[in-house]
Amino acid sequence: MKRVALFGAGQIGSMISRLIGMDFAIVCFADNREEKWGSTVAGIPVVSPKESLAFTPDCYCLCVLDSERSGQMREQLRALGFDGEVLLPDMLRVFDTRVATMRLLAEQIHDERIPGDVAELGVYRGDFAVLINAAFPDRTIHLFDTFEGFPPQDVKLEQEQGLSHAQAGDFSETAMELVEKRLPFRDKALFYPGYFPATFCLCSAKAFAFVSLDADLYAPTASALPLFWEKLSPGGVLLIHDVNSQQFTGAGKAVREFCREKAILPMPVCDLHGSVVLRKPWKP
Ligand SMILES: C[S@@+](CC[C@H](N)C(=O)[O-])C[C@H]1O[C@@H](n2cnc3c(N)ncnc32)[C@H](O)[C@@H]1O
Repeated sequence: MKRVALFGAGQIGSMISRLIGMDFAIVCFADNREEKWGSTVAGIPVVSPKESLAFTPDCYCLCVLDSERSGQMREQLRALGFDGEVLLPDMLRVFDTRVATMRLLAEQIHDERIPGDVAELGVYRGDFAVLINAAFPDRTIHLFDTFEGFPPQDVKLEQEQGLSHAQAGDFSETAMELVEKRLPFRDKALFYPGYFPATFCLCSAKAFAFVSLDADLYAPTASALPLFWEKLSPGGVLLIHDVNSQQFTGAGKAVREFCREKAILPMPVCDLHGSVVLRKPWKP
């Protein structure tokens, strides 16, 4: 078994500490941010890169996906005198746990004939919507977004409550027509441009089998949870992005409040953004 130090104790490092396989024993996190030293992430101590050498790792795993930063970290290790193996989590660019989870759920929803349409709140340029549409070719897909980026009133709340550094208009470089063109089964798509939850009342869906919530912020997530949950078929799924995110903490707050009220537990997904799954009981 190899002793590995994880270099980078941020969101990616935290997920890699869960993803890493049985051939590795994690000895510590190394991180350049002084404020992190002395803390723990997933129960693992965070120390300075220099101090991490005292843990005698056989190898380091660089927990970043940006090649410029990983080059600098590699140099830093060399300058500290480490000449052992350095691992890059490049495969995380190739394989995506959230996408895989959605596809597996789509197969199950199909096999078990769980009824209902599919939906996404927070579409932006449609990266995930395109994949949902492809995985559910015979279901109507309902797509909710301002298509003008984060709404000012939601951002105001984020700032007042210190939930994120979101700015009004972030994610505005999109258009409904652009998303529509990208969808493989565009005849199945219904668009709801505008402020959510105001747009929800325009939605004619009787039931949903799968819903992706990816609005990042507290307000839209908190209003979407009870509305979609109510219309979810037995066995239906809410897949919620950014619930264990360090960058956007509002989605997690909304999910924790909702789950406490409903006495349900979210199922964590080990993707890079801390997604969770909420599932309606099947055949109650
Ligand atoms: C991170 S992006 C979505 C990313 C997208 N799911 C993808 O796969 O690329 C978040 C989106 O949520 C939308 N959004 C946030 N709050 C909203 C609200 N109250 N009503 C409608 N859209 C909202 C933003 O406009 C933005 O496009």
